[in-house]
Amino acid sequence: KRVAILISGRGSNMVSLIEAARAPDYPAEIVLVLSNRPDAAGLARAQAAGIPARAVDHKAFPDRARFDAALQAELDAAGIELIVLAGFMRILTDAFVEAWSGRMINIHPSLLPLFKGTHTHERALEAGMRLHGCTVHYVVPELDAGPIVAQAAVPVLPGDDADSLAARVIVQEHRLYPQAVALIASGGAVLDGGRVRFAERAR
Ligand code: GRF
Repeated sequence: KRVAILISGRGSNMVSLIEAARAPDYPAEIVLVLSNRPDAAGLARAQAAGIPARAVDHKAFPDRARFDAALQAELDAAGIELIVLAGFMRILTDAFVEAWSGRMINIHPSLLPLFKGTHTHERALEAGMRLHGCTVHYVVPELDAGPIVAQAAVPVLPGDDADSLAARVIVQEHRLYPQAVALIASGGAVLDGGRVRFAERAR
């Protein structure tokens, strides 16, 4: 499967995916990295890893539809089959999301459906959670609401602040996302009628 990773920032999940995809038997190939922010640190990290990486600056477009059309043109040109959002902080139009239904996933730093949106670690602490974590899900028009592919949990420890908790979660993100992308790229999970259907594996 030909994969594009969309980022907005430092791209640590992107790096973990690029590294995992170097394994000869990995079922997906990272062929493109796009950022809506030209100053995203992840762009240079992708280029250093030999992956074509470009900015599609959302500020250069008059509206979301035209920004999404520019993304679509880049994805078409590269023959992309699966979009992996990794810290991509831009809302995509419903039309774009529908066009990529079942072929676009995101990682979110909470155990969804808890703590949709931003500042998840602060909110998990505020809620007194003893467990927290991360979720890989298919992208649907409603933010952070798509069918769940994979999750990982971490403990919330006494004395945690948002930074220490985020640091514990991101370790799991870096492990979980490459696994989830491999699962989808190999046909082990598909979106089917709004639900994830997991393949039964011969053992
Ligand atoms: C991650 O915590 C991801 O779950 C969230 O934004 C962060 C991106 O970090 N959506 P990075 O850019 O992958 O380092």
